[in-house]
Amino acid sequence: MCGIIGHVGQRESLPILMAGLRRLEYRGYDSAGVAVLNAGQLGVVKAVGKIKSLERSLQGQEIAGSIGIAHTRWATHGEPSVTNAHPHLDSDNEIALVHNGVIENYRTLKEFLSRSGIKFVSDTDTEVLTKLVKYHYTDSLTDAVRIALGQVEGTYGIAVVSSKHPETLVAARKGSPLVIGLGDDENFVASDVSAMIEHTNRVLYLEDGEIAEITPNDYRIITIENIPTDKAVEEVNWTLDEIEKQGYDHFMLKEIYEQPSTIRAAIRGRINLEEGIARLNGLNLQYDELRRIKRVIITACGTSWHSALIGEYMIEELARIPVEVEYASEFRYRSPVFDDHTLLLAISQSGETADTLAAMREARKHGVTSLGIVNVVGSTIARESDGGVYTHAGPEIGVASTKAFTSQVMVLSMIAILLGRMRNVSVQQGQELIGLMRQLPDQIEAILKTDDKIQEIAKAYHHHDNFLYLGRGINFPAALEGALKLKEISYIHAEGYPAAEMKHGPIALIDEKMPVVVIALKDPVYDKVMSNIEQVKARNGNVIAIASEGDTEIADKVNHVIYVPRTHRLLTPILSVLPLQLLAYHIAVMRGCNVDQPRNLAKSVTVE
Ligand code: AGP
Repeated sequence: MCGIIGHVGQRESLPILMAGLRRLEYRGYDSAGVAVLNAGQLGVVKAVGKIKSLERSLQGQEIAGSIGIAHTRWATHGEPSVTNAHPHLDSDNEIALVHNGVIENYRTLKEFLSRSGIKFVSDTDTEVLTKLVKYHYTDSLTDAVRIALGQVEGTYGIAVVSSKHPETLVAARKGSPLVIGLGDDENFVASDVSAMIEHTNRVLYLEDGEIAEITPNDYRIITIENIPTDKAVEEVNWTLDEIEKQGYDHFMLKEIYEQPSTIRAAIRGRINLEEGIARLNGLNLQYDELRRIKRVIITACGTSWHSALIGEYMIEELARIPVEVEYASEFRYRSPVFDDHTLLLAISQSGETADTLAAMREARKHGVTSLGIVNVVGSTIARESDGGVYTHAGPEIGVASTKAFTSQVMVLSMIAILLGRMRNVSVQQGQELIGLMRQLPDQIEAILKTDDKIQEIAKAYHHHDNFLYLGRGINFPAALEGALKLKEISYIHAEGYPAAEMKHGPIALIDEKMPVVVIALKDPVYDKVMSNIEQVKARNGNVIAIASEGDTEIADKVNHVIYVPRTHRLLTPILSVLPLQLLAYHIAVMRGCNVDQPRNLAKSVTVE
């Protein structure tokens, strides 16, 4: 989704802004632009496409200066074009503004401004906001922004500069994340910490309805009602290394290979083998409160929704509490039934997904205790939830989520154990699960060592246009996740299905051109899955099986087998998904796709 970086200080802004834009590239965008203030004039350059296009457009341009803003745009209003790209300017080229989000009443505001003779050149809601700020401007940029935002309905994260205020950057937030970074003799604003982490790790997270006035050595935060507010400075503990490829061809591959360590990080300090229990202090719930929970709703989108489905199996089986998994985008527009004993879990890698955030807010409005399972520290879901558990997977840059998924599943397994231990799960059962959880990182290492074989399979099938993924029980969501990975990065049509459901429709698709990836682990439904495999083979389908180590009989019945180590049935998706991530990755690379920034996709979907 769109990205923002702003800088004000003593150093040249342009290199800082361009480096920030490159760090934001992973979020997905279709055009980019920059505005720098130099000797009272705003120099603005914009381009369609990648940052490289913007770099080319900047060649030979004089836009020196030590205050500026920049933006990567993911089109919502108006096609990707130079005119629609940000920053937008007012008619006198005095004010430049970049914006993430959607101004819902922009048509009304446009009519209002048009009546005063103001003309528009783009199709965007952002241009309207820029001209509205100018309309209200008298002598204070901050006041003009504040008054303009008072008329706005919708969501925004904005950064604004003006040629009349060469040392002031104004930023404001409602529904779109913004972080202020504090440096030495310079300050920053960005939609994402990664854009400024090489300059500072001291940050302030803006809340909805707050406006920041930022100068090189100071900042001031007020509410939209013009009330000054205080804010704690927080330290981000990422390192630059974490957001660099470190020799890998793609971030996605690096992130797949990081999973042994991210799984270790997810459980570190949180499991107690002796007592067979997980300790999750961030939940902010006492044991008696955990015992009172009678129903769990898990809400999320995309990959996080798949981990929610796995959580449903885990919590229902271990804690015997009914669980409903809801697409956040649907949940927020239904009239969900809540009661005092419902717990809501909102799962999100970014912690900023608009639908998941809105679903959580809806639940909280009804007094439902809402916990976040979130990766990005300090993100909105993390801050607005009643408590939660960080997944600690570190920055995930590849648009296709991999390590965040397995960490979410780990966290859900710990929640399930905890809720289970509050009820029927014995110390011994808890110990068995925890013991097996501790083996997962080494087992993942073992799967990663089979990458060459997965690559060979990818080679054999990367020309196919359709794939079917089958799994049963707790591995059905893993099949869904495998299919999602393939479609989002390789643009191959892939569907995930519960294996037994295949005969109710998708079987009609099966022929030699439709490879079928089947998760067929040695578990209580193994024989049933094997008969589903026979049904595929009988129709000339090619089967790639994900099987349990030591299963010798499967090899004769399928075209290819990728083995994964054995573990507790409830933990198997953490292992079975690994080959599926690698298969999708290699197929996408072989098809020449842009793995880390697939077309049309954004890392963090902060609009509806
Ligand atoms: C994952 O590969 C996708 N890019 C996407 O489905 C993602 O999981 C979804 O948008 C939810 O994001 P979140 O976890 O940051 O809320």
